[in-house]
Amino acid sequence: MALVSATEMLTKARDNHYAVGAFNTNNLEWTIAILKAAQTKNAPVMIQTSMGAAKYMGGYEICVAIVKTLIETMNITVPVALHLDHGDYEAAKKCIEVGYTSVMFDGSHLPFEENLEKTKEIVALAHAKGISVEAEVGSIGGEEDGIIGAGELADPKECKIIVDCGIDFLAAGIGNIHGKYPDNWAGLSFDRLDEINKATNQIPLVLHGGSGIPEDQISKAINLGVTKINVNTECQLVFAEATRKYIEAGKDLEGKGFDPRKLLKPGVDAIIACVEEKIEWFGSTNKA
Ligand code: 13P
Repeated sequence: MALVSATEMLTKARDNHYAVGAFNTNNLEWTIAILKAAQTKNAPVMIQTSMGAAKYMGGYEICVAIVKTLIETMNITVPVALHLDHGDYEAAKKCIEVGYTSVMFDGSHLPFEENLEKTKEIVALAHAKGISVEAEVGSIGGEEDGIIGAGELADPKECKIIVDCGIDFLAAGIGNIHGKYPDNWAGLSFDRLDEINKATNQIPLVLHGGSGIPEDQISKAINLGVTKINVNTECQLVFAEATRKYIEAGKDLEGKGFDPRKLLKPGVDAIIACVEEKIEWFGSTNKA
């Protein structure tokens, strides 16, 4: 199946009360792992690159080429969207040009009026090419790839105004944090999520910082309108742990154990298992 925009898969998810997993990729192995897991679970999926990860991979064009080519060579039949995560204005424009099927314009750190104006411009450019757009108000806590957010509860009135710009889905801070959650984390603010959900008239809502949120909170969030859930750190942690175990067991020193195809396999298998588990939690198994 060709790459698709995220609009249809998220609208379907919203109407049927499940969420689509949006998994950050970092390289070829990561991308293969996410696609394999989604195909096994027969689930729609979003593969997303931060600006930093895309730079690391060699640029936006190569990310498009990798995902498009793998969909063909791996015979992937589930719907896949390639999404820019936390893009600035220039990155969003670039991704619209080179073949991403979905972009996030993150103007949450800008004055609200400027966020609004730039979001409108990105919506016009993206929609002219059938590309979906995510916007953000109320920054997500923590740090991701150099993007630092103080973490705040989004203002439902601002959410409504930005949704009226014609965006396709909205990231709104509800106490969620990128990276590991601290032991004293208060949990998601369901009261605020409920208010945002009511104010934004059924637009799919995006939960950033999906790593480490307990399953019961994920289910509750989905019931209150969350439709796209971003996961990055958890895949990185399981990859690192599996790779460390392999090396600490001295397996890289046995025979050809140093071959990257062997050395990276436990980590890749761990990502596959992690993505499959999240898809199960999000309720998107067999929803392709
Ligand atoms: P985690 O790294 O906390 O899973 O967050 C991912 C994310 O929200 C990407 O935008």
